Amino acid sequence: MSYPSSVKLVDVGPRDGLQNEKQAVPAEVKIALVHRLQDAGLKNIEVTSFVSPKWVPQMADNAEVMAGIARQSGGCYSVLTPNLQGFEAALKTSPDEIVVFGAASEAFSQKNINCSIAESIERFRPVVAGAQQHGISVRGAISCAVGCPYEGDVSPDRVAMVARLMREIGVQHVGVADTIGVGTPHKVQRALEAALRHFPLDAVSGHFHDTYGQALANTLASLELGIWQFDTSVAGLGGCPYAKGATGNVATEDVVYMLRGMDIDTGIDLDRLIDAGCYISDALGRKTQSRVASAIIGKRA
Ligand code: HMG
Ligand code: MG
Repeated sequence: MSYPSSVKLVDVGPRDGLQNEKQAVPAEVKIALVHRLQDAGLKNIEVTSFVSPKWVPQMADNAEVMAGIARQSGGCYSVLTPNLQGFEAALKTSPDEIVVFGAASEAFSQKNINCSIAESIERFRPVVAGAQQHGISVRGAISCAVGCPYEGDVSPDRVAMVARLMREIGVQHVGVADTIGVGTPHKVQRALEAALRHFPLDAVSGHFHDTYGQALANTLASLELGIWQFDTSVAGLGGCPYAKGATGNVATEDVVYMLRGMDIDTGIDLDRLIDAGCYISDALGRKTQSRVASAIIGKRA
């Protein structure tokens, strides 16, 4: 078996991480986090989402955050857009990539975006067309690709179905998301293989929440299939307001440490990344969720 020689990580901390915070996080803290991630070598950052402020007030400062970040050349700054209204608002902030987010579970689709899977595809259709017109790349997230907080186990065929529908409307890349972190390596491989029925290897990524402590194992299992793109979250921040009890994404620090130990390049400076994690953990007044960061901070002291 040969692993990829390099891996692309998208840090979703500013979005997935902070959308679920009980306390208000000022826009300047979000902006400073993006800058610190850039300083650590992150080229791909999911900055915010253009969703209803009534549903997710934490992301209501989306335009302010997008306007406040000093972008680096070659960087890719992504935002979530669930519908045309969100896309039109996002467009004014010049994102490099937009993310439409659907689900492999009907119940989760209803709870998260207030429509069925079929309706969500119809909402995404004009968004994808608009993005194409403006030369903006489109990623599609497939939530609950392994399990759903409302429906339980989710079959790989459901993932394949959503991947096919996304492909048909012109989505360029799909992220297979274990929203509630229940997946184990073989189940995650089956979900990825389902997406690979409709997208090439270079257009499929993994997005693993670490609720059950399986996310690093699931990342390794993905690498075994040749998957080389992952969403991760600095300090292990994250969660979804519509997936109660789900914890953060796998910590970027933990993934970078594992990959570095396997001689797989990420272009990320682990020490600076840990500094970024310390910054946001201090701002939130809590300990990092990254095991690697905790260990290295302990050694620094
Ligand atoms: P809806 O109620 O069906 O929308 O919500 P609507 O079109 O009927 O509009 C109702 C109201 O919402 C109107 O306002 C609209 O203006 C407003 P009102 O007239 O009542 O004052 N509205 C909007 N406002 C701002 N931006 C918009 C927008 N759209 C409508 N884009 C909607 C549909 C999708 C908007 C809503 O359900 C929503 O905002 N849901 C939040 C979903 C969310 O952010 N979830 C978390 C992110 S997904 C995630 O974390 C999973 C992921 O990480 C992968 C994984 O781990 O699984 C990606
Ligand atoms: Mg997520």
